[in-house]
Amino acid sequence: MSRVAYVDGRYVPHGRATTHIEDRGYQFADGIYEVIAVSGGRLVDDEGHLVRLHRSLSELRIEWRMSDRALLAVLRELVRRNGVSEGSVYLQISRGVARRDHPFPKASRPVLVATAKRMDFAGVAERQSKGVAVITTPDIRWGRCDIKTVALLPNVLAKQAAREQGAYEAWLVDEEGRVTEGSSTNAWIVDQDGNLITRKADNSILNGITRIAVLGQAAERQIRVIERPFTVAEAKAAREAFITSTTSFVMPVTSIDGAKIGDGKPGKVASALIGAYRDHMAA
Ligand code: PDD
Repeated sequence: MSRVAYVDGRYVPHGRATTHIEDRGYQFADGIYEVIAVSGGRLVDDEGHLVRLHRSLSELRIEWRMSDRALLAVLRELVRRNGVSEGSVYLQISRGVARRDHPFPKASRPVLVATAKRMDFAGVAERQSKGVAVITTPDIRWGRCDIKTVALLPNVLAKQAAREQGAYEAWLVDEEGRVTEGSSTNAWIVDQDGNLITRKADNSILNGITRIAVLGQAAERQIRVIERPFTVAEAKAAREAFITSTTSFVMPVTSIDGAKIGDGKPGKVASALIGAYRDHMAA
């Protein structure tokens, strides 16, 4: 089956899915995006993703007029046309195409592009059973990491550094030595008293849709959650660590900068939340 993308009102072959060179998303990273998981051919947590999408659009004052119903219809059609049962959809909305100039253009219309791709959920499960390594690196991003913009260069550099060091993810560290989040995931630890700790959702992190789901599942399981920053030293001394995202689900972290976490195997809390999140995706 050949891949199909959606570009500004049209379904087009993936290989010919192009946008204008003066699209502000391309020139200024003046746009926002979402990644939504697809499980059993259905979008996971689409409501939460749409809430965040509207928040990002309004923070950047991008005037978006398409209804959620119409947008979801496009995403579902992409899933169908690409025959995706397990995978994800990517959608991006830029401020539009205009002659290059920094201020908002007077006359421009937001441009929506979207793609769907398959993902090997078995591969994720395999990784979950072993756990992953993370490295730490300074967080050099801007002050509004709560907005899901396409300006991801610091995240790209951090992830590349992780890969070059044989790690799966890079945890970003603020000036006080505290972890903000991963380059494309939220960061969690379980301390020696069994408390689940993750940074509170302020401007320094993206409030993950997976994060929100996992907070709910932890509460249902009477796991004590503390939303506060934690340091790299605390993380290294933790009983467990894990990361969450749309494409990694709940992923145990078994080493940080080469230091083993707990006994170096996925922990009990992470394993319980992996199961809970799997059920949530299937529901
Ligand atoms: N990344 N933090 C950052 C910086 C992210 O880019 C993401 C998601 C998350 C987790 O958010 P969610 O649970 O809603 O996926 C946290 C997506 C998957 C990406 O850029 O591919």
